[in-house]
Amino acid sequence: MEFSSIKGFRDILPPETGLWQGIEETARKVFSSFGFLEIRTPAMEFTELFSRGIGQETDIVSKEMYTLSDSKGRGMALRPEATASVVRAYLQNGLHEAGGVHKLYTIGPMFRHERPQKGRLRQFHQINAELLGDPGPVSDAEMVIMAMTILEAIGIYEVRLCINSLGCVSCRPGYRNTLSGYLSGIRNSLCEDCRRRAELNPLRVFDCKVESCKEAIKGAPSISEHICRGCAEHFDQVKSYLDLAGLAFTFAPNLVRGLDYYCKTTFEIQTDRLGAQNAVAGGGRYDGLVKMLGGPEMPAIGFAVGMERVAALLEDTIPRYSKGADIFVAALGEASKKRIFPIIAALRKKGLRVEMEYGEKGLKAQLKRADKLNAGKVIILGEDELKRGEAIVRDMATKAQETVPLDRLVSLAERH
Ligand code: HAM
Repeated sequence: MEFSSIKGFRDILPPETGLWQGIEETARKVFSSFGFLEIRTPAMEFTELFSRGIGQETDIVSKEMYTLSDSKGRGMALRPEATASVVRAYLQNGLHEAGGVHKLYTIGPMFRHERPQKGRLRQFHQINAELLGDPGPVSDAEMVIMAMTILEAIGIYEVRLCINSLGCVSCRPGYRNTLSGYLSGIRNSLCEDCRRRAELNPLRVFDCKVESCKEAIKGAPSISEHICRGCAEHFDQVKSYLDLAGLAFTFAPNLVRGLDYYCKTTFEIQTDRLGAQNAVAGGGRYDGLVKMLGGPEMPAIGFAVGMERVAALLEDTIPRYSKGADIFVAALGEASKKRIFPIIAALRKKGLRVEMEYGEKGLKAQLKRADKLNAGKVIILGEDELKRGEAIVRDMATKAQETVPLDRLVSLAERH
């Protein structure tokens, strides 16, 4: 083979695409029920949008972006996530000037140059939602509930909802210092990356996958013990609304997430069925991002569901989306084919899935194909039937056959 796809970039083939369509359709219905409207932003943006928005010291920005330069030397990047793009579009198009709450969703591919493995790709897809213009805590709960509702509606139940509060601009810096102090005391037990993180972005150490680091930070102070009163009250309110919705959740004091814009409520929805890549969805509040990207002070919260991971959890339902037909047309000979051709078009206009044999095959071979397609009915039109202006309609389940005048085939199909 001369060409193959790029490592970490995957083809999605039928019947799996049927599953993807189902997931998207279901998510759109849930979004609509929560009053969210769709926004579509470009797959590429100026690199600076992401480095400023997501944070220079995050893995995503420091090592995972696909970048290139335009003819003027400006850096551009394939989007590694949607939030920064949605905020850019929200500001650029003046949505913030209208005031009020904006509820936007987007579905599409994202790109991160990560080491590919099960559940981790370089081009992956997200179902992403952003709510801009409300400080919470009711909207925080709504977003968590909406994420869980999407998963449940697409048939995913065995997940764990983990939540944490990351504090705000007034309490986070104090915690950062406390954590920094602690980390400098255990510096020798940390990996190279974490030593760097300890200085530049200490909260990142909680994301480290190295076992010795995980062990070393077990005694680290957790943010929940250092958040201010306002943040603690906010978090309590969010939890009480989740209780009211009957949602079970786990408080995860070390949940920090991989993007720097988060504050206050953050959450991740995890599964035990996907190995190391256990996050099916993640999100949180990002009250400082709009301002950081040049806009006004504007609270916001959002989340993204990873479509590959969701699809992997529903893998065993894929055969359900295999090819099928309501009617298979077995026309024998060119004259029969020409006679039935416009009838096929009329049947499809009625919304029926109609398949036919394009080449010259005998009746036996055609019936075999009808079987494979799991067709409900087969219309058989041979030379004799054509002469009489009739067709044989065979019910594939009961094997019963009836003779139907050709000009009544379409109206008859309405009965099925
Ligand atoms: P994130 O946690 O980086 O958050 O990604 C959200 C979800 O995307 C993950 O939970 C995972 O299911 C999926 N995902 C991430 N990376 C990959 C990958 N390499 N391969 C397959 N799936 C992946 C964000 O992206 C935030 N923008 C979410 C958000 C929206 N926060 C506020 N608004």
